[in-house]
Amino acid sequence: MLKILHIAAEASPFIKTGGLADVIGSLPKALLSKGLDVRVVLPKYRTITQIWKEQMVWEKSITVPLGWRNQFCGIETIHHEGITFYFLDNEYYYNRERIYGYEDDGERFAFFCRAALAFLSHIDFQPQILHCHDWHAGLVSVFWEAFYSHLPFYKNMRTIFTIHNLQYQGVFPQYFLGDVLGLDARYFTIDGLEYQGQINYMKAGLVFSDLLTTVSKSYSEEIQTPYFGETLDGLLRKKRKQLFGIVNGIDYDLYSPSKDPYIYLPYHDDLQDKAFNKIKLQEEFGLQVDSNMPMIAIVSRLVSSKGLDLVVHILDELLTRDVQLVVLGTGDEKYETFFQQAVARYPSKLSVHIQFDDALARKIYAASDLFLMPSRYEPCGIGQLIALRYGSIPIVRETGGLKDTVQAYNDYKCTGNGFSFTHYNAHDMLFTIQRALKSFQDKELWRKVFLNAVHSDFSWHQSAQQYINLYKTLTFQGQK
Ligand code: GLC
Repeated sequence: MLKILHIAAEASPFIKTGGLADVIGSLPKALLSKGLDVRVVLPKYRTITQIWKEQMVWEKSITVPLGWRNQFCGIETIHHEGITFYFLDNEYYYNRERIYGYEDDGERFAFFCRAALAFLSHIDFQPQILHCHDWHAGLVSVFWEAFYSHLPFYKNMRTIFTIHNLQYQGVFPQYFLGDVLGLDARYFTIDGLEYQGQINYMKAGLVFSDLLTTVSKSYSEEIQTPYFGETLDGLLRKKRKQLFGIVNGIDYDLYSPSKDPYIYLPYHDDLQDKAFNKIKLQEEFGLQVDSNMPMIAIVSRLVSSKGLDLVVHILDELLTRDVQLVVLGTGDEKYETFFQQAVARYPSKLSVHIQFDDALARKIYAASDLFLMPSRYEPCGIGQLIALRYGSIPIVRETGGLKDTVQAYNDYKCTGNGFSFTHYNAHDMLFTIQRALKSFQDKELWRKVFLNAVHSDFSWHQSAQQYINLYKTLTFQGQK
């Protein structure tokens, strides 16, 4: 039986700030259902909700070396839906108000990486694969090589590193090398951790892991170019034979309009039942109540990479038409204020909710006809996958995972599950929205695109199998 340990900074339902948590909360379940022994290790942050903290079982405590330090590390577990989650506890590092954004994040996550290796020989689990996610887990592979690869318990372990977002790399001062990481100067080279005179944790993951993956095929190609490569494109080109794109799935048990307890009326592939959800939401939000009025949704972090400048640019033009727009999310103040101020101009057409609320998000997915996601870049994207599942037709920019999961509707062949545009241009987007709105008026056509959307399969089934194939190639390779 394949034994896999996922090492990540977030996992739903315990702790979430972004899409990474959705993946770590759902991929292990899919792997488990295919017969693997999958476990997950996370930091034990203070902000994990009390209900979960109460369920944690204390296992033991160990001491973890980190440079010249020896740090306490408590090991606690929760068994959740068949998966063991390990929480590594250190009050000094993780008993804080937020999970990221501290001056010593470099040390906090170096500790996490070192502890995620160290604790293994103290529990009854010897994984064959260490599957590390994003920069927070970037040091695992280099620590393995430097401190563990000669030890019998560890020496057959292999590492996979998954890039969820190349933009965040975890770059810290050079003195970290010896002082925090405990590595010698041999690692501070262009082929090692050195990056513009500093240390780059993401780069460590890319250089030292056995295999690399990212969360869609298109993004795996894009990041090999300077525009998307965030200055690491050269390295990624060099590593292209070890780099695979595997699109994310979503948990179809969790996101299912036929049994979602948060929406007004469950539905499967019936447009009328779906329209009931729209009417209820229009009532709740004080919008004009009309089931024939097309409703567009934006459920997103309100940050520039999500393409919000395009929306800002054409909002007034858009809202002169017969359409409603619902916005849910938090993020940069300039977008939050912009949308909030616009409500005064279009009270019956625009509804803005500056908050993060999963139940409300589901109501919006269920109620809306269209889902707008014009990202500048998008490694995979999860919103559009949930939207497809709920029959809210995505309008996306053709980049990364959006390109791989949304196919433009083709009138002649009746294929496609959404609408898309290529250039990062506000009027190209507006034009595409108009096309979508026109299609919405054609009941027959709309039914077809709706059915194509709800019958698209983005469960984890296929992608989990692709991960398993990679795991197998690594375990068959034998010893290094
Ligand atoms: C990051 C990416 C997003 C992806 C998610 C999970 O949040 O920005 O596109 O879906 O990770 O892999």
